[in-house]
Amino acid sequence: MSNEIYMAGPWITEFEEKIVLDAVRTGWYGKNAYKYVELFEHEFAAYHNRAYALMTPNCTSALHLLLKGLDIREGDEVIVPECTWIGTAAPIHYQRANIVFADIDPIHWCITPETVEARITNKTKAVIAVDLYGNMPDMEGIKAVCDKYKIYFIEDAAEALGSSYKNVRAGKFGIGSVFSFHRTKTLTTGEGGMLLVDDENLYQRCKFLRDHGRQPGSYYVTEITNKYMPSNLLASLGYAQFKRLDELVEKKRWIWHNYQQMLSDVDDIALNPEPDYIFNSAWCVALVFGEKHKISQEQAMKFFTDHNQPSRPFFYPLSSLPAFKNFVSESNGGRLNNPISYDISNRAINLPTALSITQEQIEQIVQTLRVMLHY
Ligand SMILES: Cc1ncc(COP(=O)(O)O)c(C=O)c1O
Repeated sequence: MSNEIYMAGPWITEFEEKIVLDAVRTGWYGKNAYKYVELFEHEFAAYHNRAYALMTPNCTSALHLLLKGLDIREGDEVIVPECTWIGTAAPIHYQRANIVFADIDPIHWCITPETVEARITNKTKAVIAVDLYGNMPDMEGIKAVCDKYKIYFIEDAAEALGSSYKNVRAGKFGIGSVFSFHRTKTLTTGEGGMLLVDDENLYQRCKFLRDHGRQPGSYYVTEITNKYMPSNLLASLGYAQFKRLDELVEKKRWIWHNYQQMLSDVDDIALNPEPDYIFNSAWCVALVFGEKHKISQEQAMKFFTDHNQPSRPFFYPLSSLPAFKNFVSESNGGRLNNPISYDISNRAINLPTALSITQEQIEQIVQTLRVMLHY
C-alpha cells in the first residue's frame, strides 16, 4: 500500500462492494429500479427525524431544488456565511436571487444571530446556515431571527453528517437541510446529495421539480424544471456507507483527536471547536494559527508543499473571489463588512483528514507543523 498522505477520501469495505454488486446485478427492472434510492432516502430521513428525503446528484442541486421549491426568485436576497464552499451560494444565483454575505464567529467559524440580523433587509427571503467543518452555529438564535423577520431558515449540513446540536442531529434544522456525498465527504457516493424536509407540500413540490416537472411514471410534462434524479447505483453505495456511519464518524473523530493530542503543547493555535452542546463529527480538521505565529494561509500551505505534504486553504471569503465581484458592495461582503471572515481565513488551513490516514501519517503532518512553528 502506498504511503502517500491524502487530504480527503473515503473508507470503502467489502460490505459496500457487495451491496453495489447487488445493485449492478438486480437494480434495473420494475420495483428494483429505484430500490436503493428509496431505501437510502427512507432510512436517512428516519435517522434525522425528518419526514421526507430526496436524493440528488449532489448537494448543490439539493439546495437548488429547495430554493426553487420555496419559490426564491429574482430580486430576493438570501444570506449565507462569508466563509463556506461555493455550493452554498451558487444555487441562489441559479434562481437569479442576490447573495448576501454574513460574517462568521472567530471561535466557532459559523454565522451568528447578530451577523445574520445585520444583513436583513425587506428583500431577505432566507438564511442558509452552514455547519462548517462539522461544527454547528447557534441554531436557536438564528432560528429566532428568521422567525422574527418571517424568513426561511435553511441548514446546509453538507459537512456535518453525524454532528448534533443539543442532541438534535445536523439535518433537522429549518424548513429544509441538505447534505453532500462528494468523494471527499465522510459518507460518499462519489457525487451525491440529499434534501431533507418535514412539510409534505414542499416535499411533493421538490419531488416534482427533481424530475423534469412530471409525476412519476407520467410522460405529460406540465412545467420545465431541472433533472436532478439520483442513480440507483450511487444510492446503493450511499446506503451501504450509511449502514457504517458510526464507524466512519468514529474514525473522523479519531483523526481529529490525534491532531489535538499531538499538538496539545503548541499554544496559540485552534483546531475545530466542540462547544459542550455540540457533537462534532469532524468532517475535516481545520487549524487557525494565532496572531503570534505570524503565519499566513499562503505561507503555511507553501511550507507543506515544500515538504511534499498536502494541505488546503480554509474556505476563502466568498466575496474575495472573482466569481462574486458583482455581489460586493458597501453593505455586502468585503473585508470591511466581514472582517472576521477575512482575518480567520487568511491564517487558517485544512489538514489531511482522509479516512485512509494512519497515526504515523498524522505524526508526519504534525512534525512539519512543529518545524514551521519552531516547536
Ligand atoms: C458547505 C457546503 N455546501 C455545499 C457543498 C456542495 O456539495 P456538492 O459538491 O455535493 O454539490 C459543499 C461541498 O463541499 C459544502 O462543503
